[in-house]
Amino acid sequence: MAQPIYLDYNGTTPHAPEVIEAMRPFLEHEFGNPSSNHWYGIAPKRAVAKARKQVASLLKCDPEEIIFTSGGTESNNHAIKGTAMGQKGKGNHIITCAIEHPAVLEVCRALSPYGFETTSLPVDRQGIVDPDDIKKALRPGTILISIMHSNNEVGTLQPVAEIAAIAREHGITMHTDAAQSVGKVDLDVGALGVDLLSIAGHKLYAPKGIGALYIRDSVHLEKFCHGAGQERGLRAGTENVLEIVGLGAACEIAEQRLEEGIAHMRSLRDRLHQGLAERLGESVMLNGHPEKRLPNTLSLSFKGLEANRMLEEIGLDVAASPGAACHSDTVEISHVLEAMDVPLDWAKGTLRFTVGRMTTAEQIDRAVTVISSAAGKLQG
Ligand SMILES: Cc1ncc(COP(=O)(O)O)c(C=O)c1O
Repeated sequence: MAQPIYLDYNGTTPHAPEVIEAMRPFLEHEFGNPSSNHWYGIAPKRAVAKARKQVASLLKCDPEEIIFTSGGTESNNHAIKGTAMGQKGKGNHIITCAIEHPAVLEVCRALSPYGFETTSLPVDRQGIVDPDDIKKALRPGTILISIMHSNNEVGTLQPVAEIAAIAREHGITMHTDAAQSVGKVDLDVGALGVDLLSIAGHKLYAPKGIGALYIRDSVHLEKFCHGAGQERGLRAGTENVLEIVGLGAACEIAEQRLEEGIAHMRSLRDRLHQGLAERLGESVMLNGHPEKRLPNTLSLSFKGLEANRMLEEIGLDVAASPGAACHSDTVEISHVLEAMDVPLDWAKGTLRFTVGRMTTAEQIDRAVTVISSAAGKLQG
């Protein structure tokens, strides 16, 4: 049986063949510990240093400003808890927004028993935070602003540079969760003006369980993991050499192919959107900002339908992800669609389609046929 067409690249990405090749020696024979002073430590140590350079080159920062983590969740945890604990003498207030990933929202919530307060700002109908709301939310004790670079469900890009300028003006640390943006849009931490930026390897064709955190050299973060002093003493533990190498290779490819990748993703995403809009007309609606959006992300609401029924109908042919879960007598809308005020009748029929490097035009044309017939059938 043929596999369903994969349209869930924001969920995770396949491993790039180049990533697998780069990792192979570290799986097969380069088993040494990078901290060892003998011969076996040499290649792993060099490989970790090379990967750090590759990540830094993609983000346009110094390799010393990159630490490796276990993924986007850990990077966000370290950025937020590390700032909170490192600056608790200065204040106890954090600003974030309502459509952040749980790896930000839950971390802020978890800090509340320790005396930290969080302001979660609203977004507009397209998912954008108003920088004026940031200014209004500032307090003398504000120590951190954490606003995601792009949203995983609808793809909306935030005015991060503008918000970071406000943070800088007030001497506040600025973090952005760029787990979905790295490799999909051009990122330059200097131009953005952020102090902390999170990366997740498995969103850019590297394995799951590896990530990185950019930490501007002037920023003080509390340690995340105590131990033998790896990663500048911030995150102790013998390095995950295999996956660090994979992440490095993934970043190098992302940098080399950024423009071509953006054009590829945008054209296929728009082909899918146009194909469905032509067939389904007014019964389908786009969520997120029409332009200020990741080039691969298409969140569509199918009027009057239930996301899970749609997925059941298309599941053998197309893999996508739901924006709502309907139970027998309740509907759980994603916190993102809720914050964007998407009307219930539309929100409950929301699906996220995300394309990537391996997506082809033939797959998109087939997906248009499958999705539009399913919607037509269910809408009667
Ligand atoms: C915006 C965003 N942040 C953080 C994460 C968590 O990353 P990881 O799965 O590497 O822990 C994700 C994953 O879906 C994400 O989309």
